[in-house]
Amino acid sequence: MANIPTLEFGVPGDKIKVPRIGLGCMGFSPIYGEVNDEDSLKTINHALDVGCTFFDTADIYGLGGNERLLSHVLKDRRDEVFLCTKFGNAWRDPEPGFQGGFAELLVGVKGDPEYVRRAFQDSLGRLGIDKVDLYYQHRVDTSVPIEETVKAMAEFVKAGKARYLGLSECSAETLRRAYKVHPIAAVQVEYNCWSLDIEQNGLLDACRELGVTVVAYAPLGRGFMTGQIRSFDDLPENDFRRGNPRFQPENFHHNIKLVEAFEEMSAKKGCKPGQLALAWVLAQDPNLIVIPGTKRIKYLDENVAAGQVQISDAENKQIRDIINSIPISGDRYSKFDMSHTYK
Ligand SMILES: NC(=O)c1ccc[n+]([C@@H]2O[C@H](COP(=O)([O-])OP(=O)(O)OC[C@H]3O[C@@H](n4cnc5c(N)ncnc54)[C@H](OP(=O)(O)O)[C@@H]3O)[C@@H](O)[C@H]2O)c1
Repeated sequence: MANIPTLEFGVPGDKIKVPRIGLGCMGFSPIYGEVNDEDSLKTINHALDVGCTFFDTADIYGLGGNERLLSHVLKDRRDEVFLCTKFGNAWRDPEPGFQGGFAELLVGVKGDPEYVRRAFQDSLGRLGIDKVDLYYQHRVDTSVPIEETVKAMAEFVKAGKARYLGLSECSAETLRRAYKVHPIAAVQVEYNCWSLDIEQNGLLDACRELGVTVVAYAPLGRGFMTGQIRSFDDLPENDFRRGNPRFQPENFHHNIKLVEAFEEMSAKKGCKPGQLALAWVLAQDPNLIVIPGTKRIKYLDENVAAGQVQISDAENKQIRDIINSIPISGDRYSKFDMSHTYK
């Protein structure tokens, strides 16, 4: 067992201890290069063996394939997993022989009660389980009042089929409105050394005020902060990051300065730059979980070991100064995807 730090997670009257370093499962489906299900299952089982039990998936990952993959582990080890999944990015099934990209199959963000109920049943079916630990809205459907969406989600809690509810990429105002309908246990957002929006748009303050746990996605900056990607050309064909503004060659060479600064500091501390990046995010708030994603046992072990990297107040400030001194070039998503964030 790795000695992963924990926190008390939940809502008033229903709390549970969970590890502060979880497993982001998105990369087990094609998005960051090739995948191999057999290797993925070994990594997922290894995560449980070392106590990295907070699993993050979504119906959209692999168009349902990610949840189906997890079902192979859940069928024997359900009790060991804190299983989080999400709905809201609707897609159509590809026609036979479809050669296009995954983005072409997306049909929009949906949060109407009928869709929510169907999506939930479909997720349970693919996961092969009868209860989800944390059910999130992945993106807010601005055409449906959040109250309606959350009311539908709350039906699953009442029925004992979901333990907690969460929102992803919501605004502070949406969170407050949602919380009035039903307590929200977690907000999932990109929070890392190069994405600090949550600190500036009031959402972190709202989470603190309401006692909502922040689940920091892409805490390694989609792998950038590990220093393993040195140029745009290092990204595999069909890799999602090839379309991400921050990885474009004209932005990459600016942004790599942040990685270099982390490499210098982590070398002095005797850890990896990615571990420093994870430890820094963890140090920003005690009620925060990071969910780094990896397909590899070696990386998973490194990531959970980041829980042992201590950041002193002086180092926290030093890193903040580094971040403030290196402006990041490029948005964290394409223009279209950005239009669905913080709604
Ligand atoms: N709510 C949302 O909208 C949203 C959006 C994005 C992600 N997420 C969730 O957040 C999770 C994590 O985000 P992410 O996977 O996008 O980004 P991430 O965790 O910041 O980075 C993942 C990338 O880093 C690499 N990596 C991981 N550990 C490493 C290590 N120790 N050394 C070197 N490279 C390492 C992985 O490589 P390999 O793949 O080769 O192992 C992968 O390419 C996802 O899996 C998903 O569950 C949620």
